[in-house]
Order: sequence, then C-alpha cells, then structure tokens
Amino acid sequence: MRPSSDAPLDGERKTVTALFADIKGSMELMEDLDPEEARMIVDPALKLMIEAIHRYNGYVVQSTGDGIFALFGAPIAHEDHPQRALYAALRLQEQLGRYSNQLRSHGRLPLQARAGINTGEVVVRSLQTGAGHTEYTPIGHSTSLAARMQALAPVGSIAATDATRKSCEGYFTFKSLGRTVVKGVSEPVEVHEVVGLGPLRTRLQRAASRGLTKFVGRERELTAMKEGLELARAGHGQIVAAVGEPGVGKSRLFYEFKAIAQHNCLVLDALSVSHGKASAYLPVIELLKDYFQITSDDDERRRREKVAGKIMILDRTLEDSLPYLYALLEIQEENNPLGQIDTQVKRRRTLDTIKRILLRESLNQPLIVVFEDLHWIDGETQALLNLLADTIANARVLMLVNYRPEYRHEWGSRTYYVQLRLDPLGPESAAQMLMALLGESAALEPLKRLIIDKTEGNPFFMEEMVQALFEQGVLARNGVVTIAKPFTEARIPATVQDILASRIDRLGADEKALLQTLAILGKEFSLGLISRVAGQSEAELERMLSDLQLAEFIYEQPAFPEVEYTFKHALTQEVAYNSILSERRKQLHERAGHEIEALFGSQLENHLNDLAHHYSRSGNTPKAAEYLRRAGEQMIERSANPEAIAHFTAALELLKALPEDRERAQQEIGLELLRGGALGVAKGPGELEVKRAFSRARELAIQINDDTLLFQALAGFWYHHQLAGEV
Ligand SMILES: Nc1ncnc2c1ncn2[C@@H]1O[C@H](COP(=O)(O)OP(=O)(O)OP(=O)(O)O)[C@@H](O)[C@H]1O
Ligand SMILES: [Mg+2]
Repeated sequence: MRPSSDAPLDGERKTVTALFADIKGSMELMEDLDPEEARMIVDPALKLMIEAIHRYNGYVVQSTGDGIFALFGAPIAHEDHPQRALYAALRLQEQLGRYSNQLRSHGRLPLQARAGINTGEVVVRSLQTGAGHTEYTPIGHSTSLAARMQALAPVGSIAATDATRKSCEGYFTFKSLGRTVVKGVSEPVEVHEVVGLGPLRTRLQRAASRGLTKFVGRERELTAMKEGLELARAGHGQIVAAVGEPGVGKSRLFYEFKAIAQHNCLVLDALSVSHGKASAYLPVIELLKDYFQITSDDDERRRREKVAGKIMILDRTLEDSLPYLYALLEIQEENNPLGQIDTQVKRRRTLDTIKRILLRESLNQPLIVVFEDLHWIDGETQALLNLLADTIANARVLMLVNYRPEYRHEWGSRTYYVQLRLDPLGPESAAQMLMALLGESAALEPLKRLIIDKTEGNPFFMEEMVQALFEQGVLARNGVVTIAKPFTEARIPATVQDILASRIDRLGADEKALLQTLAILGKEFSLGLISRVAGQSEAELERMLSDLQLAEFIYEQPAFPEVEYTFKHALTQEVAYNSILSERRKQLHERAGHEIEALFGSQLENHLNDLAHHYSRSGNTPKAAEYLRRAGEQMIERSANPEAIAHFTAALELLKALPEDRERAQQEIGLELLRGGALGVAKGPGELEVKRAFSRARELAIQINDDTLLFQALAGFWYHHQLAGEV
C-alpha cells in the first residue's frame, strides 16, 4: 500500500500541532558579518532544527533563512502529535545550546532560538510543485497562533498554547507565562513555557495520575495469565500476548495482573514509545534501567556502581557482559574495549548478554518480563524478543507482550505461546464502568446509553468522552454527577480523534479517499451505490473494499439482493467524515442524492430519509424539503405521527433559507396542512399547535391569492375549532 503522503489530495481538515522556531538576532549577526560567513554559522543551526523535527516524524513546511515552520500530525496523522512537537522542540533547543557553546568556544557570538507551538484544526492543501514534488500548506488560524507563540517565547525557550498544554500535561512540565491578547481571538490566550520532561511516559500512567477507573470485566484474560504464570513458575516458560485495538485495555490488564502476580516474582518492565522505532534498543534500555534501578538522578559513577554491583552479586561469570551493558546505558569507559568490534558481532553479543542475565536471574526466582506496544518497537528490541522467545521454553520466565492488531510476529506456532484477543467491553462491563465514572443517577441513563453507543465499549473512548463532557460543561460534579447543560452534540474528544485519524492515514491514498466517500454514504451502504458514487472500475473498487475489510474498517454484511457494507466503528466514520473539506462534502452528498435517485428510479420509498439527509447536507434545500415531506407522508401512512411531524417541521425549517416567493409559500402551505393534520391525530385536534399550523397556512394562502389552498386551510381550521369547542 502506498502511504497517503505520496498522492495528491485536494485538501483535508486535520488536527495538527504546528511549530515555529526562529533564530534570534540573526539579522544583527548578518549585519556584522560577511554574508557568506554568517551563513556558515546559521546553516548548521538550521540543519539541527530540521533534524530535530524529522526525528519525531514532523513535516517541515517551510524553512526560511533563519527559521522553520513544521507540522506534526500532517500529512500523516500521528496519535500523539502534540507530544512529538514538544519532544522535537526540546531537542531543538538542546542541540542549538550545544552548538552555541561550540561557537562561543571559538570566540563567536552564541546563537539562540525561540519556539512557539499550538494544537488545533487546519485545512491542509497539497500543491504540485513539479518533478513529482508535493508541498503541503496548512491554512488556518491554528498555525498563526503558533507563530504568535514563537514571538512571545522568551529567548532560548519554548512557548505553547493551552490547547497543547492540555494534551501534554504530565508528559512535560510547564510554567505559566500569563495571558495575552492575540489578534483575531476574542479572549486573551494563555501562554505556557515548556520547561522540560514531566514524570509521566505512558497514557496509562497519565490515567493513573488522574485516578484509574474501577477495573471491570476481563476475568477470562486474568485467569489465562495466571495459568501462564503457574506454568512459568514450574519451569515451563510462557509467552502471553494481549492483542487489541488502541484503548481497549491492554496496558490496564497488565497493570492489574502485575499487581496480583508480583508476589515471589521479579517483574521487569520495558517501556516503548510511539516514536520509538527510530531509537535502537529503547525498550531494552528501559528494561535494564528497571532491573538495575537506575534513575535519572544517577550520575555516571553511580550508574556504573549499580550495574557492576548487581552483576557481581548475580553471577561473577557474567562479568564479561559489563562492557555491553555500559554501552547501552551510555556509561563511558576509558579505552573502550568494544571500540574495535564489528557492529554485527557487537549486536549479537549485546542481545546475548541480556538474555543470559535474564535467564540467570530466573534461577533465583520466577521472572516476568513485560514488553508493551510491540507495534512501535525497533529492530534491535525485536531481535531480543525473538531470541528470548527461542530460549525461555524451559526457564522460569513469563513473557508478557501486548500489541495492536497490525503487528505481526513469528511465535504463533510455539506451544508455549498464548494469545488473548481483547475485545471492547461488553454491555454489562461498559455499564459498570460508567457507573464507576458517573454514579447511578437515573437522569444520566440516556447519556450513558449514548456514550456506550458511540464508543462501542472501548474503555479509553468512554473515559475520554466522559472527560470531554465535563470539560464542555455538560456534566458537573458536586458530590454527585448531574447534567448541567442540555446536551446538543457529542463532539469526538481530541485524543480519540487523533487515534482514529492516524489509523485512517495509514491507508493508501486511494483507499483513504474511498473511505471518506463511504463516510458520506452513512454507516451502511450498498455495493451498487458505492460503485456509482465512487466512480471507479469494478475491479479497482473490489480490491479497495477488500483492503478496507482486511484492515477492519468496514464489514461486509449479508443482504439481498445486493452486497452491503457497514463501518466497523461509527466513530471511524465520523472522523473520516470530518476530515473532508466542507465544499467537497457538499459535492459528495449531492452526488449521493443523484445516484440514489438514478439507481432506484421510481421506487424511492425506501430511500426517502437518505435522500432528505444527502440533499440537506448538500445545501439543495428544495429537494431536501421535498423528500422530507414525502418521508413525512409515508410516516402518516404508517401511523407514525410523531415522526411525521418531525419531518414536516424539519422541512419547514429548511424552507426559511429560500427566498420568500410564491413557490416557497405553496410548499409551506402544503407542509403546514400536513403538519396540522398529523398534530391533530397525535395530540388531539383541539390543540393550540394545530390551530397555529392551519392559521399560518390560511395567512399564506391569502397572501398568494390561492383559493384552493385557502379552502383546504379553512377546512383544517374549522376542524380544529369544532373540536376545540370554539365554534
Ligand atoms: N477493564 C477495564 N476497566 C476499567 N477501566 C479500563 C479497563 N480497561 C481499560 N481501562 C481504562 O481505559 C484506558 C485505556 O486502557 P489502556 O491504556 O490499557 O489501553 P491500551 O489497549 O493499552 O491502548 P493502547 O493500544 O493505546 O496502548 C485506561 O485509562 C484504562 O484505565
Ligand atoms: Mg497500552
């Protein structure tokens, strides 16, 4: 599959983090120096800045003579774009600091930069700049706000908006720089300086720092893990893998298991991060730090003592492994004994060293080694895992790994490998979780149902949605949770949006475009309609649909006479839908409407709602109103009067946007007559609302001088009066 960044897109809405960085005082520098000489000083600094951006997979939109503008989360979405931007900014400042010191030691003026960061929605457009080059330019207020932050940042520092701080609090530390007025923003904007790394590394740690939700369900999985541990204790090493989609609860399951299994075991944790593929051995290094209990405060001497001391106590024959451990843990040695060794040999021996230590340790007590998020690990760590998988069969080792479904490995056929597929929480567990989050108040039931419905039982999505509802002020907590404000729409929380968007962006460009078109069609769609709207050859389309099915975006469901598909997750549909530019959305809805008309011709009865939906989204008001009316009439035939009334009312609402001419008046009268009739049946003909509908119809009929319609309006009016006892 081609990554979407290769292909031209005509524009997309995306949530991104924008970063501006600028070398301070470069003008003065230029002024005092010969231009060529000045470039020799500034260019390496720019290179360092660009390198820092690329390290965290950012995209450099523009690099001017003395600054850069970069995006994280576009062209390809990353679920943690705000963190990546901050990591990059910190690295950028650190590298520039070093470079600046070098300059100073050569008697030059030091260089400093300021960086500004903001997170928000932009429209990203691609421009073909010839020779196969594509440039992406983001348009939107979000990026100007980032530029503004840069201008406000104290020299040598990083300033970020509150939006960025919110998603990164805990992973980084911030210092408030107060509020400031920014052009184009009505409220003063809060500015925060990014001071450095915070205490938290993973999302679960962050959740724990807020207070973990009461653990629910997962009994089967915990039992399987305990069995694995018992076997491992008895000397039959086991690999237990938990596989599941983002947020489904893999890390939490491990966390709960560790809490009950720790007894008489040694647990070692390897941590991995989403930008980890680029750093060799990162999880392994974390594992070793955990084992040797090295903290960030330990200086080099202390680290060396800890490592050597522990190895000597463990087993003196492992002494030869020390240089490899020192190298991994960045402990310098005089006349480095590994200096001359071939890198391949060194790699093999390094891996072997770690394996020997772990196996030796498992003789003292059972060992649980935890590797999380294998979908993010680097090649070296993967090699270590393979090596361990080959050797633990007869050791007292339980290897716990977890990963998302896209990751592949080769241990599947091992007899001592067990895979646990984590599905979203079932209705009962989901309800229990919401009870823990929101309490038991009956008034919250409809909202709870909506949350379960939307999130389909994914615990992370549920937590985030609840959190978002508190932030939007819909929910309030004072002792108990109450509804503070009527609930209008359920916006997707940014964190969830980012996860889903990054899944979508891993698709090929054409498949992604198809997915967006499908999102327009709705949660369910038939093959016939897709092929008309998507406008691709049948073979092409079938290939792409089957790719989307394989990647578990959509499901095929049995239907007659035609194949039908449905989105696996309603939220994915929503995210795909939201990424389409509004102009394009309109076009696609209009096309969908036309194609439904063309496809079903004279038998539109089963599609009136869809047609009304597409035409109202495409802005084709006359058609939307017409289909709403027909849908309402159909509801009357089926004696579903409340639904009928809702349709007529929606149609009347739409008509308000049309010019007040004769045609509109006729349509309006027709609708009021129908509405009045339906109201009469549903609520009783004597109701005031019935009277209002007919009197509005009468008034309009007089205005346009239409006797037939006037007669009908009067008949309705009479019907009301008679039954209201007003005649
Ligand atoms: N069974 C559960 N009961 C209560 N809360 C849960 C449960 N499972 C998960 N959670 C909560 O949902 C959130 C997401 O869970 P977790 O971080 O374990 O997901 P994950 O599968 O590891 O996701 P990722 O693939 O992104 O790492 C956490 O805050 C966690 O506490
Ligand atoms: Mg996890």
